[in-house]
Amino acid sequence: MGPSAARRTTGPSAADSVVPRPVRIVERSGQLVTLGDPVRIAAPRQVVGEARWFRRCLEEATGMAVELVEPGQPAAVILDVDESAVSGGFGGFGGFGGSGGSRGSGGSRAGRTAGGYRLVAGGDRIAVTGTDPAGVFHGLQTLRQLLPDTALRRAPTTAPGAPDGAPPLAVEPVEIIDWPRFAWRGVHLDVSRHFLPKDFVLKLIDLAAFHKCNMVHLHLTDDQGWRVPVDRYPRLVEVGAWRRRSPAGHANQHRYDAVPHGGFYTKADVGEMVAFAASRHVTVVPEIDLPGHVVAALAAYPELGNTGQRFEVASDWGTSPHVLNLEETTVRFCTDVLDEVADLFPGRWLHIGGDECPTDEWEHSPRARQLMADHGYRRPRQLQGWFAARLAGHLARAGRVPVAWDDLLDAGAPPGMVVMAWRGVPGGVAAAAAGHDVVMAPQQWLYFDWSQSDDPAEPLALRGSTPVEKVYGYDPLAGLPEEHHHHVLGAQCQLWTEYVATPAAAEYQYFPRLCAFAETVWSPPPADGEPRRYGEFRPRLARHLGRLAALGVNFRPLDGPTPGQARVWRGETGT
Ligand code: ACM
Repeated sequence: MGPSAARRTTGPSAADSVVPRPVRIVERSGQLVTLGDPVRIAAPRQVVGEARWFRRCLEEATGMAVELVEPGQPAAVILDVDESAVSGGFGGFGGFGGSGGSRGSGGSRAGRTAGGYRLVAGGDRIAVTGTDPAGVFHGLQTLRQLLPDTALRRAPTTAPGAPDGAPPLAVEPVEIIDWPRFAWRGVHLDVSRHFLPKDFVLKLIDLAAFHKCNMVHLHLTDDQGWRVPVDRYPRLVEVGAWRRRSPAGHANQHRYDAVPHGGFYTKADVGEMVAFAASRHVTVVPEIDLPGHVVAALAAYPELGNTGQRFEVASDWGTSPHVLNLEETTVRFCTDVLDEVADLFPGRWLHIGGDECPTDEWEHSPRARQLMADHGYRRPRQLQGWFAARLAGHLARAGRVPVAWDDLLDAGAPPGMVVMAWRGVPGGVAAAAAGHDVVMAPQQWLYFDWSQSDDPAEPLALRGSTPVEKVYGYDPLAGLPEEHHHHVLGAQCQLWTEYVATPAAAEYQYFPRLCAFAETVWSPPPADGEPRRYGEFRPRLARHLGRLAALGVNFRPLDGPTPGQARVWRGETGT
């Protein structure tokens, strides 16, 4: 046991509790590496953005002066980019080539280590060398976790009126080599069922990035609300963003409040989210759910429907029988909408939904029946494949990659479409077998709208129960034959918001499950081929919760909700 371990009182060290766990950590003996005032950061031109972001974090938390200097100048934090940063090995262990290379980011060695970094803290400096700028960013996120938790706050705790005695801004000597296991490390948020304010979306992006997740999927449209403006169809937000009431209690109780609800993001809001995400190496993936889950759009433009009836924005949860008609004008509406959405969200991927689309209305539609006859379809479900192929072709011509839920496999998903497998592992297997790239999102492990325990004190949830240890035990490759592993881009956790009306409620559902999820997509699995062991993770997670507290996250404590988080009052002790 080296001096660094001896300094510790109880529990894992900061390095030992970095979440997600780095590929390799070697704790060194020696003095703490202390960042003085001013802190100098040396950064080459291509990572000046990352250095500035880190400077802002440090300045806010510590009140210290932080200066950026040219490479080669004296500095305490030295950033660099070197494609081979994680391949050399040092200090008794090798670099890339150990267990679990990164998947889904191409076949080259450089591609497989994209986003990797080496962090060396020793003497009077901390060097963070990324394989690319994303790698430097990931290394800086690790550095934030190595520093005292106070360094995650928004103002110094030594300010007048705050308790003093904040620990020095120092890290224990350590060497870390790290790179992501998967290229798609996704966090989904439904902002349709409950509109969540822009500031919360920014906080979620920040927290995703803190846990080295790099995709934030926004479910922007559904029966209960349309949340993004489209110039050519202004009524989508004028009408479609608002509903007169919401269910009170569980949907199966059929009770309602009398409280109007709604909202939408302006184009400026979206631009801010996208830029905020980009500066954290996060891509925002917008979802426009088509051709089912569209009642908010039908309320705005009833001519898109099959029946001629008028609609109001839905205030029930569940799957509506009302879907888009299959007229050419409706296909045109969809491609117009996708064009504008693509302009707002510049990332490669656009999600076009495709889940839970009943075909009953098409069975009674002359246009749909004609299409079936023209194409020789035997099942109405094939019409959904036709519709998806029209949209996918349009997106592909615009250089975008379409993404859809795995329901679309039943209709014949167009080639080149990324499939998000929510219904379970078999959907992922079927998608990969059909040649699709896959993002694993199985509800049984990764639907965070499910309750965190069977305790009736848990907040109302769609169903139970998915505790953090179950999430931790999930493996995105489990159940997928090895010949399909190259199709698995990664995995994604989902938060549907029927029962999640506020940012605080959303944070409760995400955390700490998102911490466990992050480890399944970033960190290599155990070398012995066994599932990850929650018993090993729990003490690290317990230590990590101090970081979430400093960041102001309304996480669920490991032993259950606090009295203020619980749905029922159980006395002041909460027991
Ligand atoms: C879904 O849960 N309907 C994707």
